Amino acid sequence: MEERSSTVAAVDVPALEAEAQSAIAAASTTAELEQARVRFLGRKSDLKQALRNVRDRESGMTLNAARERLEQAFEAREAELGRAELDRTLTEEQVDVTLPGELVRRGRLHPLTQVRRDVEDVFLGLGYEIVDGDEVEDTWHLFDALNMPPQHITRSPLHTLYLNGDTVLRTETSASQIRVMKERRPPVYMISPGRVYRRDTIDATHGAIFHQVEGLAVDRGITLADLKGTLRHLCRALFGAEREVRFVTDFFPFTEPSVGVAVSCFLCDGVGCAVCKRTGWIELAGSGMVDPNVLRNVGYDPDEVSGFAFGLGQERIALLRHGIPDLRMFLENDLRFLRQF
Ligand code: DAH
Repeated sequence: MEERSSTVAAVDVPALEAEAQSAIAAASTTAELEQARVRFLGRKSDLKQALRNVRDRESGMTLNAARERLEQAFEAREAELGRAELDRTLTEEQVDVTLPGELVRRGRLHPLTQVRRDVEDVFLGLGYEIVDGDEVEDTWHLFDALNMPPQHITRSPLHTLYLNGDTVLRTETSASQIRVMKERRPPVYMISPGRVYRRDTIDATHGAIFHQVEGLAVDRGITLADLKGTLRHLCRALFGAEREVRFVTDFFPFTEPSVGVAVSCFLCDGVGCAVCKRTGWIELAGSGMVDPNVLRNVGYDPDEVSGFAFGLGQERIALLRHGIPDLRMFLENDLRFLRQF
């Protein structure tokens, strides 16, 4: 009877249970324990097959009791191993928050962007507005309204890129003056930075694409003194408070009189060097009092208002500031160059 109750359908229940208990005790990881569980309690295990084939109540009870004991043993061992594993990861995989972090390299602004922002800062400080112009212009805004006669040399397709008919890529930002004045009534205080296009052969000091900043002030009673004070302030903000600023006569169709603006060379302090071509002075901008014809072209009355305008080259300022020998470097996106600024 004893023999029958413990050996059911060819399974020696006490032996099987002893074997399973020692496998449970021997499992040192949850993975090993899972293997043992499949072996002793899985669908194809001897115990489960015996249970499936059981015919009498007594063997059923013996087998089920053994199954329950084993399941409890598995659960207990699993909890034990789980705790041990958690303890181990908590001690072994500790994060040391005092270790130095991974270095994130900081980017920086392109030298031309720095120049544009510096000029913008100066004029925002003076109460000017920043206005976007159009890179695609028509010849009326770019030439006629700016008082350029029909035979003016820059209107030639050898100098200006024509898209078709009278649609062109702007050769200077000056057309933005016309657009702004047509849109509103004086007073107008604005600068307009942007890209310009010329049909030029590219070399160290010329680009077919480059950047300017246009400026315009129109109000009652604006004089040449305002032009000089404003541009002197700009030059000193860009190149240092100790710079001398010189104004010389020049010619532009849209200003009368026209004025060239130069700063004393910041390298040789006016003595004469390679950067200033031995003159002691560096040309920075074209400017002048807005020609009365231009004011009339936009419907302003030159007896009521007057103004001054100017144009700067962004590349030129950046070249001078950093002593860069070739403006093509601004376009090449070579990080070894750009990281220096
Ligand atoms: N547009 C001129 C150029 O590209 C620069 C310039 C000169 C702009 C005099 C002005 C100005 O507004 O008054 O060379």
